[in-house]
Order: sequence, then structure tokens, then C-alpha cells
Amino acid sequence: MNIRTQVGIVGAGPAGLMLALLLAREGIDAVVLESRSRAEIESTIRAGVLEQGTVDLMTELGVGERMRREGAVHSGIELRFGGAGHRIDFTDLTGGRGIMLYPQHEVIKDCVAARLAEGGTILFSVSDVRLDNVVTNQPLIRCLHEGGQVELHCDFIAGCDGFHGVSRASLPEAELRVFSRSYPFGWLGILMQAPPSASELIYAYSERGFALVSTRSPELQRLYIQCDPTDDIANWSDELILDELQARLVTHDGWELLAGPVTQKSILAMRSFVIEPMQYGRLFLAGDAAHIVPPTGAKGLNLAVADVRHLARALAHFYQRQQTDLLEAYSTTCLRRVWRAEHFSWWMTSMLHRFPDDDAFQQRMQRAQLDYTVTSRAAAMSLAENYVGLPFDW
Ligand code: FAD
Ligand code: PHB
Repeated sequence: MNIRTQVGIVGAGPAGLMLALLLAREGIDAVVLESRSRAEIESTIRAGVLEQGTVDLMTELGVGERMRREGAVHSGIELRFGGAGHRIDFTDLTGGRGIMLYPQHEVIKDCVAARLAEGGTILFSVSDVRLDNVVTNQPLIRCLHEGGQVELHCDFIAGCDGFHGVSRASLPEAELRVFSRSYPFGWLGILMQAPPSASELIYAYSERGFALVSTRSPELQRLYIQCDPTDDIANWSDELILDELQARLVTHDGWELLAGPVTQKSILAMRSFVIEPMQYGRLFLAGDAAHIVPPTGAKGLNLAVADVRHLARALAHFYQRQQTDLLEAYSTTCLRRVWRAEHFSWWMTSMLHRFPDDDAFQQRMQRAQLDYTVTSRAAAMSLAENYVGLPFDW
């Protein structure tokens, strides 16, 4: 099968789907190729926090209706250490901005439905995806779909296929710089059937390691504890996980975790990663395909969305005015925000986790930083500004 489109998009994650919706608004035709099935992408549990800018964009794109109904607006978070909680009040510190708790797979469901409803093409369960001719004006994507060969001829390719996708590998190594850090810990994440234990997210630093209390719905909690990234999840019984959560979250005023059946558990590794530049010829990378942050700052999904807003704007500029300046600036424009988010995510991670090699001095440094963050308005404001997300045109 031969298909002709303007923009070939590899990957139907938040980056690929939002890009397709943004381009449609500009009258630009795009086809999305996704290696997994629709059912799979609509059920994989990943991020939960949407920045104000992501919320606003979903509304603008007409995919915000269910989010406004079912999502939960939060106007602060708690930092917990030394047996006490300290609220960071986003509304007060950022002039009224906040965050939305709405699961990533629900964002995916809303975007897939909207894209199909507007007549857009998404080919699910494709395999053997290969990118060719990316330094010419006629790039080509080949893949297999339902037993047949597909050739997708396009003007541009958007590599939105995540960290393990094929797009990044199509950039020549000699032209790239790779920046990477892996952390000596991972997160053990669970879903637990119980009403929220707190009205806002709790980020806890303890002698035993980091813990995070988040939610998914009025009946479902999302909880994380720092763990050995190479550990086998089979070593963690539900009882052990709950004991560890309670020990790390304990307060002097008797706060209690509301517990219930654990319905899902897994361990994820943590890394920081950036490649520069994010573009080669007519191939543009966006989202996790180009950069990864540890989840402590809740930035991964939001960064992916910021990238594709810039890419859609640059492509619209090209098609409407035949000007390439915004396309040429794409990588530099995105990387400024990417590095800010890399720093914020690394900073939150470093402040809140126990590092295996840390001595008593290093631990005092972490406590001093936490104390400062919750007592100085300037320090709290810096955390709040980054957490709710810098303005799109920052
Ligand atoms: P992805 O969401 O990874 O989407 C890429 C898509 O491309 C996928 O659907 C994939 O199937 C598809 N694909 C891959 N290879 C190919 C191919 N060869 N051909 C076609 N399609 C392909 N961020 C947070 O902010 N908070 C969190 O709590 C959080 N938790 C996370 C938990 C896990 C286990 C992971 C892996 C990530 C988590 N993140 C979190 C990060 C966040 O989910 C990502 O930053 C976000 O999904 C990035 O979106 P994306 O569209 O760039 O990539
Ligand atoms: C989540 O709800 O999954 C979540 C929330 C905040 C984070 C990371 C993950 O920093």
C-alpha cells in the first residue's frame, strides 16, 4: 500500500497524537503509525500530572471535556520530612496557577477518539518501521501493517516513538551529542483500590528512602517507593510494600495511609537523557524519543506536549509562508525548556532520594535544602513555578 501525506508521525503517544491534532487545526495532513494495539496504548499506566499549559492546550484542541469532568485540579503539593508535612501553595506562589491530575492513558483515549472522529488515519500494530531519505525533500517511512508492506511518502517525519523507538537511531551518531545519567535507584509503583489518603500529592523524604502518594480516581491511589532498580518485583509482597510506605510516610500527628487491595505493581528505572540536536534533515524528534527525565518533577508528558506545539507551529509557518526559519530553530527552541526541566527533575530527585553512597554530611545537605525550600518564600516560589510549568513562550 502506498500512502501520501504531508507529515508522517511515528508513535501514538501524547507527542504523536497531539501533533496530529495540532496539524489538523492548521489544515496539514498527517498519518500516525503506532507499533502497539489501540487497546494497549489506551491501558498502559504512566504519568498522572498535567501542567496548566497542557490542560489549556487540550481544551483548545477540543479534547478537554472529560478531563474537566473527571480530572482533579490540585493547587499545591506537600513536602514531608522529619515527621511533618509542609505545603507548597501553588495558587499563592504562582499567581493562581495549578496542576491537573488526569492519567496519561485517559489523555491517549481522548486524543485517539478525537483524531479518528475528524477522519485522521492511525495505523495500529505496525511492525518493522524504517525511515529513509530523511535528508531529502521526500522522506519515506516503510512498515508492515496487517501482513502487507506500507510505504508512507511525506514531506516531513516526526519521530514521536518514545525512548525505545526507531527514530532516534536514524540520526547519524557523528552529528549527535548524548547527555545521560542513570540513578542508583528506581521507583516501585503500585495501584491500590482505596480512596485518596490526602487531597494533594505527598513527596516524602525519609531515612528509608523516597515515597510518593498520588491518586488516579476517587477509588484508586497511585503510590511509589524508591527501591533498588535491579530488584525483582516478586521480592515485594503487598504487605512489605504497605509497611514500607507507612514507615516512610509516618508523621508526628498520626497521619494514616488508607489501604486497600493492590491491583498492579512494577519497578521502573530512572534516568536523565538528552540528545542534541533534536533534528536531522527532515526528521524532527519530539518527546521521549529525544529526552527523558526522572519522574520526580512530573515533567515527561508535559515536555513532550511542549515540543510538538513548537513543531506544529514551525510546520504551519512552513506550509503557509514557505519559510523554514522556525523549523531550523526547532531544536534550539525546544532544548531551552528541555534543559530547564532536566535540571528541575534532577534537583527534585537529588533532594528527595537516599543515595546509597551518601554520607552523613550529604544527608544534612538534603535536609538543609528541604528546610530552605519550605521556609523561604523565594525558594518555594521557584519550586512552584517549575512544577506548574513555565509559560509556553518562556
Ligand atoms: P511515549 O508515550 O513513549 O509514546 C511513544 C509511542 O510510540 C508509544 O505508543 C510506542 O508504542 C510507540 N512506538 C515505539 N516504537 C515504535 C515504532 N518503532 N514504530 C511505531 N511506534 C512506536 N512522566 C511523568 O510526568 N510522570 C510519571 O509518573 C511518569 N511515569 C512513567 C512510567 C513509565 C513506566 C514510563 C515508561 C514513563 C513515565 N513517565 C512519566 C514519562 C511519560 O509517560 C513520558 O514522558 C511520555 O509518555 C512521553 O510521551 P511520548 O509521546 O514522547 O512517548
Ligand atoms: C503519578 O501520579 O503517577 C505521578 C505524580 C507525580 C510524579 C510522578 C508520578 O512526580
